[in-house]
Amino acid sequence: MKHIILVTGAGKGIGQAIALEFARAVRHHPDFEPVLVLCSRTAADLDAISLECRAEGALTDTITADISDITDVRRLAAHIAERHGRIDCLVNNAGVGRFGTLGDMSEEDFDYTMDTNLKGTFFLTQALFAVMERQRSGHIFFITSVAATKAFKHSSLYCMSKFGQRGLVETLRLYARKCNVRVTDVQPGAAMTPMWGEVNDEMQALMMMPEDIAVPVVQAYLQPARTTVEAIVLRPTSGDLQEE
Ligand SMILES: NC(=O)c1ccc[n+]([C@@H]2O[C@H](COP(=O)([O-])OP(=O)(O)OC[C@H]3O[C@@H](n4cnc5c(N)ncnc54)[C@H](OP(=O)(O)O)[C@@H]3O)[C@@H](O)[C@H]2O)c1
Repeated sequence: MKHIILVTGAGKGIGQAIALEFARAVRHHPDFEPVLVLCSRTAADLDAISLECRAEGALTDTITADISDITDVRRLAAHIAERHGRIDCLVNNAGVGRFGTLGDMSEEDFDYTMDTNLKGTFFLTQALFAVMERQRSGHIFFITSVAATKAFKHSSLYCMSKFGQRGLVETLRLYARKCNVRVTDVQPGAAMTPMWGEVNDEMQALMMMPEDIAVPVVQAYLQPARTTVEAIVLRPTSGDLQEE
């Protein structure tokens, strides 16, 4: 059966790993036919991950869009409706972070963070949940963070945006449960991705890898439709990189 799956931020890091893991699931689930709609702002990244997913036997469709721009969000939702006619899974993964002391954060840092992590995530969810509500089926993942429940001193804006995403997750559940739509909040700790920039070997040894997040996400999706994995919390075994 075909499953239309949109992964935002599929060009790098955790989103890229999730797309690939959905494609790899074809090996063990012959009835599962993922159609992966891969979205980010960088076309070259999408072309590369699309090739990898196709090599695993998945169908793909790439679309460049900046989810912080509401015109792009509308274009993305319209593309899904026109090209695919339905949506089975939305992985709200695209996210950004600007890190520094509280005093360092500028208005531009604030807008940059909130426009993607809050505004973009909200309006894309609003548009695609409406489709799922009509279908009476679907699954929405949010890749929030351990910073959605715990403060880190150099992550004021990032924490604010991730705590905010959790507010959306919990509100959405109130609607989703009424129409057979599943909602999963994925809260990873530090995972080695381009978001971290340059990382030395010592630090890297204390981090998870993107596939460590991707595998349980796909497993949660493949649960029987009657069962929702509501939350997935994943931390490096040695704990968070910074304890505050
Ligand atoms: N890595 C971690 O340790 C960690 C831990 C907890 C939670 N998370 C969360 O996991 C998610 C993925 O993080 P990551 O570490 O994989 O980040 P990453 O390596 O920086 O990748 C982020 C992806 O999102 C895309 N993206 C960013 N802003 C976008 C926008 N406005 N519109 C469309 N695409 C956008 C990026 O591509 P373009 O720049 O080409 O658009 C890229 O493909 C984020 O929500 C992050 O907050 C990460």
